[in-house]
Amino acid sequence: MARTGLLVVLEGGEGVGKTTQWTRLTHALEATGQEVVALREPGGTGPGDAIRALLLDSEEALRPATEALLFAASRAELVERAIRPALGRGVLVLLDRYLLSTYVYQGMARGLEASGLRAINQFATGGLVPDCTLLLQLPVQEALHRMQERGAPDRLEREGLAFHERVTRGFDVAAGAEWQQAHPECGAILAVSALGSASDVSARCLAVLADRWPERFTPPVGQTP
Ligand code: TYD
Repeated sequence: MARTGLLVVLEGGEGVGKTTQWTRLTHALEATGQEVVALREPGGTGPGDAIRALLLDSEEALRPATEALLFAASRAELVERAIRPALGRGVLVLLDRYLLSTYVYQGMARGLEASGLRAINQFATGGLVPDCTLLLQLPVQEALHRMQERGAPDRLEREGLAFHERVTRGFDVAAGAEWQQAHPECGAILAVSALGSASDVSARCLAVLADRWPERFTPPVGQTP
């Protein structure tokens, strides 16, 4: 039977273990025999990788509006060149960050108006809405502790505690029903606790997917992380 494509996004603040989960979930889902296209923002295309370097590796100060436009430009490339073609083939796309990161980082943490962010991203994505977003949640102190154990921080990771608290708070607000109703372009946002071991968190993510799409993700997926 032909499958429809599915766009699953992983989101969360710095240090919640999102990229670890992105890798683990990709392997776990592939092990069940389904094709998974794993992509991450910003980057993932030639122009997108150049934009990523400008956004994260450069020492240049960027105005918040410039930052938002660059994230949207990288997203426009990824949607058109990689995400839509994969969805068109009926496969599962597992995407590390998408539109919600822009609302939280550039909107709630940097203070840009949500209406402007909505407009530039509608233009960038052509209105591509995720089927669901798994939002990994961790108290900010625990996340910062995990972040400090990693290597050299990038430009956004170097922001102070107040910035990261606004990011954590922003994701918490986005997990609420009221915010989601006001932002249908982000699709359903499902909160997943990131406490505990990597395999505990993977199991929680897979259980959420299996609950939502039982015919696609059960039974063997839950046993493989
Ligand atoms: P990355 O190195 O991919 O790490 P991670 O996703 O694991 O944190 O860094 C991406 C950074 O870009 C991260 O600090 C979040 C930020 N970001 C935004 O500010 N806005 C966006 O729209 C996106 C996609 C990312």
